[in-house]
Amino acid sequence: MKVKETKQLLLENLEAPARSYGSIILNKEITTQLFEECLSEKNIEILKRKIYSMKSAIHTYKNDKEGFLNIDSNGDTVSLRRDVFISELEQILETKTIERAKYYLSRLKTGIEKVKTNKINDINLHRWKEYDEIITDSLWVMGKRDVSGAHIGWYWGNFIPQIPHQMMLRYTKKGDWVLDAFVGSGTTLIECRRLGRNGFGIELNAEVSQAAKKLIEKENNKHEITTEVITGDSRTINIKEILDAHGIKQVQLLIMHPPYHDIIKFSKDSRDLSNAANTEKFLSMFGDVVDNVTPYLAKGRYFALVIGDKYYKGEWIPLGFYCMNEVLKRGYLLKSIIVKNFEQTRGKRNQKALWRYRALVGGFYIFKHEYIMLFKKNSISNG
Ligand SMILES: C[S@@+](CC[C@H](N)C(=O)[O-])C[C@H]1O[C@@H](n2cnc3c(N)ncnc32)[C@H](O)[C@@H]1O
Repeated sequence: MKVKETKQLLLENLEAPARSYGSIILNKEITTQLFEECLSEKNIEILKRKIYSMKSAIHTYKNDKEGFLNIDSNGDTVSLRRDVFISELEQILETKTIERAKYYLSRLKTGIEKVKTNKINDINLHRWKEYDEIITDSLWVMGKRDVSGAHIGWYWGNFIPQIPHQMMLRYTKKGDWVLDAFVGSGTTLIECRRLGRNGFGIELNAEVSQAAKKLIEKENNKHEITTEVITGDSRTINIKEILDAHGIKQVQLLIMHPPYHDIIKFSKDSRDLSNAANTEKFLSMFGDVVDNVTPYLAKGRYFALVIGDKYYKGEWIPLGFYCMNEVLKRGYLLKSIIVKNFEQTRGKRNQKALWRYRALVGGFYIFKHEYIMLFKKNSISNG
């Protein structure tokens, strides 16, 4: 296999991690052979010497006497994250017993030989250390929004691309289908194109959906997947018809980022959730969307709800938890509540002092977070 082809394979298999970290390409056959030799070694010092010489060959190519870095000779190749591979070798070098050294060694060998993924994503669990881009903590303090490519962030009330990015890496496989019931400016679908997931989204406001379509088209569709924006009301739109048109029966990930009631008025349309007359009405409209859409989520798959709370007449309205309850009432399993910080907008920064003063006077706290609530559709969920 040529170096160029191998690099391409690496990009396709490891997705994001490969882009941001240096990689090393190994001759699979020779590396496996070397590891086997080490595994049959009885003397820990000799074993460590062999591992040490591998490590030094990574730093200085000409020290590669065995040729495990020679990808031009016969045999398959394998790409690994360079820093992770080196640290695995170091872990072996630091062990005190031969049993432990062999344990780490055989784990490393398995990672080179085999791929282990589960049903809902493409993460190779034998090489889980290479995925430190994937967040597993429930508190997300995000820096700047990703404004690369088509993610220009023009829409007031959009979410940062890192949200759908994280959700798709963890809860979908390449080629799966994602449905965003409040697609707005199309952030989810732009991310679908980047990560090779198919997706469609529903947006009530025709002007917004037109603008989203144009923007999504600007994102390179290198995985040749399908993305579609449909103008309509997520409470009533016929999802089955959309799925039929694409020849599918279900989606594998559902994302909802509804208006946080009336915090931002998205239109004057009475079907718009941001125009609900009160919290009860808002929750009932949100519940209608859940009822209309979730029957098409495949069992065992995930539903990510992105929502924030609001103040009304000096009282904190826990919209997030109210919406969570709407979903739970319908038999979904709560998997996580992620608390994510708000990005500070330029406008707000100017008003920071004023808000602080108001907070001190009024006895309240200034919103700095929103939620990503994660639900799983289990076998007893409705629909
Ligand atoms: C918070 S925004 C979503 C933003 C989106 N995540 C993005 O990154 O651009 C909510 C969107 O829901 C839309 N919306 C409100 N009511 C709707 C309904 N009944 N059906 C479909 N979309 C609706 C609004 O027009 C708005 O664009």
